[in-house]
Amino acid sequence: TKAHIIFSGIQPTGVPHLGNYLGALQQWARLQNEASPSTQLLYSIVDLHAITINQDADQLRRWKRETLATLLAVGLDPERSTIFYQSAVPEHTELMWILSCTASVGHLSRMTQWKSKLALSDEVSALDSTSAKARLKLGLFSYPVLQAADILLYGATHVPVGEDQAQHLEFARQCADQFNTVHGEILVKPQTVLSSAKRVMSLKEPRLKMSKSHQDLRSRIQINDGAEIIGDKIRLALTDSITGVSYDPEHRPGVSNLLAIMSYFDEEGRTAEELAQACKSLSMRQFKATATKAISESLASTRDKYNRIMNHDETHYLDDIATEGSNKARRQADKTMAAVRQVIGL
Ligand code: ADP
Ligand code: NA
Repeated sequence: TKAHIIFSGIQPTGVPHLGNYLGALQQWARLQNEASPSTQLLYSIVDLHAITINQDADQLRRWKRETLATLLAVGLDPERSTIFYQSAVPEHTELMWILSCTASVGHLSRMTQWKSKLALSDEVSALDSTSAKARLKLGLFSYPVLQAADILLYGATHVPVGEDQAQHLEFARQCADQFNTVHGEILVKPQTVLSSAKRVMSLKEPRLKMSKSHQDLRSRIQINDGAEIIGDKIRLALTDSITGVSYDPEHRPGVSNLLAIMSYFDEEGRTAEELAQACKSLSMRQFKATATKAISESLASTRDKYNRIMNHDETHYLDDIATEGSNKARRQADKTMAAVRQVIGL
């Protein structure tokens, strides 16, 4: 059997939050810790994806370091996992261009994610309107091709992502097929999506997923938030005025989100329903205090490690890890690109 190559990415668009942690980063660390020695793991901080929306340069640099510190704080080990900034490996953009020359515009225009980003900026029926098309940035439209390049560059066999990314993975498989049809079997299609079932919702709009792209910082709990900040955010979280605590995601999305988060962390492995049962006679204020304590304690060791890394960085610790990671990633990318350039005639 072929060795496993695992690739995944996170955008440096803010300090990672509970959704990133429970839906992705925790799984990345587990995959690393359970991997056989022949398994390769590549985890990228995808800064080129972050600039599909306008970024302040100093803030982007800060978010990149904070994201790198988070990956280390959750237990990724640079000796075992290749951790790197996407832009430090220029082959990502080279392969993206090459894939663009065989990829189908029709498939790309069926991707829902850019449509929803347009919807956020009030461009609902975007594709139908000429003026909306004029404002639509090419990079926001074509970034699934970059994402396909990220994966195919390393011959990734396994890609751990949330279910929101399933469509993009299917697109990456199509990109490989379309390239291989023209040029021969060079690119490896990722076989398996390792999807985490854990989904964390926004504290402010609990029918939307918690995301770094939401303006309001109170909508998410960052992995470096202390107990007091977590308490403030949970106190302000949108719940409801129904008496008692019960798990009912349809009718009580706010309360159910807190119960789900508690169950993901629960050391006794209790389900959200079981936790609801245990909390059922609490007032909302008491329940929120219980949730705050549970979540804050569960994040404590990650938060402490994050703070140690960020506070003791005079020695270029993070820069050295990023450089070493990108050198390793580049050596591997070179192998794919040599074969790709050869069959094309470049
Ligand atoms: P964000 O939407 O916060 O900017 P990213 O696009 O950087 O997140 O995604 C990084 C990883 O975190 C992806 O694997 C994604 O599926 C996962 N993820 C993001 N938000 C959530 C969430 N609210 N619940 C579960 N997983 C999430
Ligand atoms: Na996102």
